[in-house]
Amino acid sequence: MAAVSMTVNGRSVTADIDPRTLLVQFLREDLRLTGTHVGCDTSQCGACVVHLDGKAVKACTILALQCEGAHVTTIEGLANGTELHPMQAAFREHHGLQCGFCTPGMIMTAVDLVNRKGSDVDEHTIRHELEGNLCRCTGYHNIVKAIAAGARAMAQAPLRQAAE
Ligand code: FES
Ligand code: FES
Repeated sequence: MAAVSMTVNGRSVTADIDPRTLLVQFLREDLRLTGTHVGCDTSQCGACVVHLDGKAVKACTILALQCEGAHVTTIEGLANGTELHPMQAAFREHHGLQCGFCTPGMIMTAVDLVNRKGSDVDEHTIRHELEGNLCRCTGYHNIVKAIAAGARAMAQAPLRQAAE
């Protein structure tokens, strides 16, 4: 066993784990943060995407021990209390999901993409950036629409907060 400490959704966590534990296993099985999904064993589906020190990573491709001292954000940490993150709200509003299995990874990828590419990101870029996230239900059309809308809403969110 090996000790690991990290900050997950703003909370410090420490645990003794098998050194082979993947980050996604640590999140789901040790911390019971089951919003991060496992949809494949080939690192292809993207259902497991979380943010590691602010950048999207597939949590099935990294050992929990490699996250020592890091800040991890999962889908559970995205909302502000009961207020959905603008990207979550956009997925709901634009029907960017059907079964919802891919959705946490899609949203975490989308937030990272907007952080890197900006709020006026175009459809071609969105589709290209989603190549690491598979959806078996929707055909992607509404996901792309939701991300474009979520990107615009993310740009406006600080203004809204400032105005309140
Ligand atoms: S579970 Fe990580 S990419 Fe599929
Ligand atoms: S909504 Fe079902 S896999 Fe994407």
